[in-house]
Amino acid sequence: MQTRYVPNLTGIPETMLWTLHNRAGEAKRPDGILEDPEVVRIYEAIDYDFRRSFGRAEPSHAIRAVEMDRIVRTWLASHPEGFVVSLGEGLETQAHRLDNGQLRWLSVDLPEAMTLRERFLTPNARLRHCPVSALDRAWMGQVDASQGVFIIAQGLFMYFEEDAVRQLLVDIAERFPGAELLFDTIPRWFSRRTLKGLHRTLAYRLPPMPWGINRDEVEATLKRWEPRITRVTLHPYTFPRGIPRYSYNLINHVPWLKERMPSLVHARFARREA
Ligand SMILES: C[S@@+](CC[C@H](N)C(=O)[O-])C[C@H]1O[C@@H](n2cnc3c(N)ncnc32)[C@H](O)[C@@H]1O
Repeated sequence: MQTRYVPNLTGIPETMLWTLHNRAGEAKRPDGILEDPEVVRIYEAIDYDFRRSFGRAEPSHAIRAVEMDRIVRTWLASHPEGFVVSLGEGLETQAHRLDNGQLRWLSVDLPEAMTLRERFLTPNARLRHCPVSALDRAWMGQVDASQGVFIIAQGLFMYFEEDAVRQLLVDIAERFPGAELLFDTIPRWFSRRTLKGLHRTLAYRLPPMPWGINRDEVEATLKRWEPRITRVTLHPYTFPRGIPRYSYNLINHVPWLKERMPSLVHARFARREA
């Protein structure tokens, strides 16, 4: 058997192992919603006590990934050579799931996170790596916007202060007219709990997530921050099976509650005026 790799991550970068654990759990199920042999390969090559830190795998991160795949795939159908940027990509293997042989993809993550990613995923001319903070605008210089730009931030913005998210959106609007942006949000109550110190298990405390926003605030907030955001679509999480399937589907229909749930947000930026 091959020697497994022991990661040495702390803080926010360690959370990439949490999402990996949940996606791999789903990909390994015969009735799972995520088809991804790469996530299983990477998961099994890492020597880390996933269960101790994160508990039993559950499908939320796979639901998020599958819904994001669906939205990006739709965009790729009309932009087959488009340029996708994935901010805070961690060990996501989304580029492999969506690769049409023509797209270009830039993974952006902190240097220590990128070092781990590169143990398992080798960049090439089309699927590239950029080891900088998403808040460092250096990644923008590596984007070829000629065939369209789609920016993904999966499991990232909640770890930033609100003003950092706002400023990043303003800079994306300025730099990439016509781009699309897909990210996920957590509600305010959940953000507050993480700031007080929220344990996922006895052994693992989640890092603080300072930016929380309720679903009914998202569209107005984004458009106020950046008037060049022309369209905002929200997508709820829909669980595939078991009790959560019924409870979440019910919650998604109850107005007060549904505004206080995590969400996926798809925003479109205006094209530059001629
Ligand atoms: C919850 S993980 C999500 C990883 C991946 N997107 C996924 O869904 O599996 C958060 C990721 O954000 C990265 N991250 C944290 N701060 C960052 C920053 N300032 N710039 C870029 N990435 C960052 C972490 O290293 C980690 O990979």
